[in-house]
Amino acid sequence: MTADFSVLIQQAIDVSRHAYAPYSSYPVGAALLALDGTIYTGCNVENAAYPAGICAERTALVKAISVGVRQFTAIVVATKNGGAPCGVCRQMLYEFAPDLKVLIVNFAGELRLETSLHALLPHGFGPDELHK
Ligand code: THU
Repeated sequence: MTADFSVLIQQAIDVSRHAYAPYSSYPVGAALLALDGTIYTGCNVENAAYPAGICAERTALVKAISVGVRQFTAIVVATKNGGAPCGVCRQMLYEFAPDLKVLIVNFAGELRLETSLHALLPHGFGPDELHK
């Protein structure tokens, strides 16, 4: 790893404890690092009407956006088995942070994958495409 992401990793693991995942039993935690150093955390919140649920990454993202923060440098996603962010989350993150670093860890804090949003969403569709 190129930097010390230990705090971000721990926060992603910690917030997963608040996940509301009675249907999948698959809690997820995310910790999104803003350019100013602030960390925004989020967990998945499921719903009896299944598609109404939201992923951990988007929970963290909308928390940040809703307080006026739009620039991000890294995200850590924590799951029991090192699952990668879903396609919808990749797209939502790409809107604001196409250069985002992405770290995927398990609940033991082991790094399972260090990658980038560009690698996870190659040739992504972003705001610039609308103005070409
Ligand atoms: N989930 C996330 O929170 N993030 C992802 O990127 C993958 C999936 C959640 C959604 C659902 O609550 C559970 O994991 C199982 O799909």
